[in-house]
Amino acid sequence: MNAEQKLKGQSALVTGANSGIGEAVAIAMGNAGANVVVNYVTHPEDADAVVKKIQDSGAKAIAIKADVSKEDEIQSMFQQMYAEFGTIDILVNNAGIQKDSPLESMSLEFWNWVINVNLTGQFLCSREAVKEFLKRGIIPERSCAAGKIICMSSVHQVIPWAGHVNYAASKGGIEMLMKSMAQELAPKKIRVNAIGPGAIKTPINRAAWETPEAAQKLLTLIPYQRIGDPEDIGKVAVWLASDDSDYLVGTTIFADGGMLLYPGFSTNG
Ligand code: BGC
Repeated sequence: MNAEQKLKGQSALVTGANSGIGEAVAIAMGNAGANVVVNYVTHPEDADAVVKKIQDSGAKAIAIKADVSKEDEIQSMFQQMYAEFGTIDILVNNAGIQKDSPLESMSLEFWNWVINVNLTGQFLCSREAVKEFLKRGIIPERSCAAGKIICMSSVHQVIPWAGHVNYAASKGGIEMLMKSMAQELAPKKIRVNAIGPGAIKTPINRAAWETPEAAQKLLTLIPYQRIGDPEDIGKVAVWLASDDSDYLVGTTIFADGGMLLYPGFSTNG
């Protein structure tokens, strides 16, 4: 178990936590002493494996199935969480998907699917968490905030992305959802922030790093010359959830190896 235990006694819900960035965030939160809900929608066996890893580190964890785009499933997930852990201190809106297509052939189904999961899902989960934060208020022994929300965004809240208009629009939407929630909730001592990962090695972008050729091409977009690991994001999430970042409100932390630095200009444009 991590000696620091920055999140000791707190309960965290991480959506889409059975793989990729969500998995690493859930494990990092467990290592920091939090009780963790590992939300998933498919592949329960993967969620169970994440739960096991967290339990092995000495923290409590449960897996709960819920589709973040479905209001009733989200409400019932929060009730299950309260039955198990009593409350919620940290929400990580992580669940996200890509359904890529050129614009002219993008189906309405692909558009709605991505917006519903990536953006509406963050709204629905945040609303449930905020109800509980407001009802419960601050518990000083646990945290100086009444609750923390971390929205998983992307460098694509800034960088336009041809062939991915649904995804980029969802991430641009997350930025304003996050900032508007942060502005509305800060006086109630609820902190809302976001993380904007760059290219992180996960199943969502496997094609972009799986072969040496693809990885080489991807590295031309990353000044730091390393494709990110999910653990890079787990560490940022723990910090953003802890009181060490208490004065951060409405900010996106980009963890992207410099992807946002216009690498195309590094050779004089
Ligand atoms: C996307 C990945 C992509 C990365 C950088 C992420 O938000 O999900 O597929 O590799 O942005 O472009």
